[in-house]
Formats: sequence, structure tokens, C-alpha cells
Amino acid sequence: MSRLHVDHADIARFAEDKVNLPRDKAEEYRAQARRLREKLETYLAEHPDFTLKKMMLSGSLAKGTALRSLNDIDVACYISGASAPREIAALLEYLAERLRKAFPNFSPDQVKPQTYSVTVSFRGTGLDVDVVPILYDGDPQWYGNLVSQDDGTFLKTSIPLHLDFAARRKAAQKTHFAQVVRLAKYWTRLMKRERHGFRFKSFMVEMVLAHLLDEGLDFSDYPEALQHFFTYIARSSFRERIVFSDYYPASTVGRFTEPVQIIDPVNAENNVSRLYTRAQADMIVDAALDAGDAVDSALAAPTKGETVYYWQKVFGSSFQV
Ligand SMILES: Nc1ncnc2c1ncn2[C@@H]1O[C@H](COP(=O)(O)OP(=O)(O)OP(=O)(O)O)[C@@H](O)[C@H]1O
Ligand SMILES: [Mg+2]
Repeated sequence: MSRLHVDHADIARFAEDKVNLPRDKAEEYRAQARRLREKLETYLAEHPDFTLKKMMLSGSLAKGTALRSLNDIDVACYISGASAPREIAALLEYLAERLRKAFPNFSPDQVKPQTYSVTVSFRGTGLDVDVVPILYDGDPQWYGNLVSQDDGTFLKTSIPLHLDFAARRKAAQKTHFAQVVRLAKYWTRLMKRERHGFRFKSFMVEMVLAHLLDEGLDFSDYPEALQHFFTYIARSSFRERIVFSDYYPASTVGRFTEPVQIIDPVNAENNVSRLYTRAQADMIVDAALDAGDAVDSALAAPTKGETVYYWQKVFGSSFQV
């Protein structure tokens, strides 16, 4: 393998410069979410019967896997009580109306129901906060029915356990696991732009990499870790069931009929990739084959120009050394 022109350190530098959300931005956005959460806590202390029980940062900003291109802050909001509507549009109206109550210094038009969430917009700086409802009846591990951002169905899951799951993998290979997740997500962004109909949800990317980590893959060399990621997808045709046993015995996972089967690490009955068709799975396999070939070619290329050319097939023209 020729590492003369582009080595691990070059990929790491590219990640710092172009891929990762800068630390100060991440802190600023987390503080923004924290202020909303605290406002709700203050309101709840004065109105203990209020049905919005908690707001919690979720998604990549909470996990430390956000990209520079992050465009909203994901926050989950736990809604309890029999009076909360089960129908999605009504539930979002209900959530918006109560958020306006809890945040009286926001004007009503700053709190807007979208298709599957409610956005809270800030005047001036900051990103919008995307509030996703979770129907909740007091589970101590914060299991509840999360509104899927893909199709509006209810998914039984636990956000804090997802964060714990991610934290365990991050601790197993400090900085490197989270970095390879971000690099792989960056690749999917390029594929979404270049390949019509391509989809590959961030949460699925993270689960595939968590699976490789559990199998013993060393993430400390980025070209190699990425190559393993692409090879795994190509070799398995993305048809291998992925199961974790952190929170339930793997043997309790039942039969699924969908082509891609990546089972929620916190709910054995939730296939995180249930919406992916065979054709969509095949597009991911094709893209992974091409990316794997590009990495091989990059590592064998004799000149710097050719090496960069091949890495750009993986990361796009923003990749420069
Ligand atoms: N199908 C699902 N089943 C259960 N939980 C899900 C599912 N999809 C998403 N989630 C929850 O929503 C969170 C955000 O998922 P998403 O795929 O948006 O990833 P992300 O880490 O926020 O990445 P991005 O930076 O692209 O927004 C996940 O960490 C998980 O807690
Ligand atoms: Mg997200």
C-alpha cells in the first residue's frame, strides 16, 4: 500500500477542516438546546400537571457525530397523558400549542408544526431546534413512542439508551469511532447528491460501524477503517442481519422479512432499516463497491494527482491535500 501521497494523517486533517462540526459551534448549539430544556423545567416546576415532561438533546449533536453541514438541532420532547392526540397532525398542533405556553417569550410564529416535528426558530443567531414528539408513560429508562422522521409512524425506543450505546462505542475507541462515523456520513452525503434515489440514514451508518467495532475492527487508521466499512457492505450485499446484545439477548430478536435488517439496539422488535427496499439496498452496495475500489486505487496510485483524484470519488472535490 502506498501511503506516500495521502495517509491517515491527511484524512484526519481533512476531517478536522471540512467534515466535522467545529467544537465551538457544537457547544453553542448544545447550549441553545439546554436553554430550551431549562425553560421547560422551570415551567414544569410551576405547573406540575403540564403534559410536556422533558426535552432532551438527541441525534448527532448529542452523540458527538455531527457534521459541519448540520442544519438543525434535534431535540426529543416527552409528552404524557391520555389527552395527547395519537393522530400525527393533531399531535404536532398539540405539541406546538404547549411549547408556546412554556416559552411565552417566543412569538407564536416561531413555533411551527412541520410534517413530523415542530420547529422552534430563534431570532438572530443559532440554528432552528427541531422538536420530535415522543409519547411517554413514565418508563424509567425513557422508552416511549417516537414519531419516525421518515414516515411519521410510532417507534418504541429510548433516546438515552441510544446515547449510552453510542457512548460505549466511542469509549471503546476514543476519537476514532466517532471520526469514522463522521467520515462515512460525509461519504453518504456525496452519494445522495450524485446518485438519484440514494438513501442511507445516518443511524444505519452508525449501526454498521458499531457492528464492525464489536467484531474487533481497529478504527485508528482511517483509510483502512473506511475500506473495511465499504467492503463489509459489498461482501454482505447489505443483507446480513445486524443485532446487538447490549440491552437484550440477541436470541430474543424475532424474524423480519425486510431485505435490510439492522435491529434497534434498544428494541428487538424495531428494524431500523425496515423502509429500505431491495433496490435501495443494492444502490448502497454499488456505491460501497465503487468507494472500496476508489480507496484501493488511491492507495496504489503512483502520483499525488491520481491519489487525490481517487479520494475525491469518496469525499468529493472538497477533498484536497
Ligand atoms: N428507525 C429508528 N428507530 C429508532 N430510533 C431512531 C430511528 N431513526 C432514528 N432514530 C433515533 O434518532 C436519532 C437520530 O437519527 P439520525 O439518523 O437522524 O442520525 P443523526 O445521528 O442525528 O445524524 P445526522 O447528523 O445525519 O442528523 C438516532 O440517534 C436515534 O436515537
Ligand atoms: Mg439528526
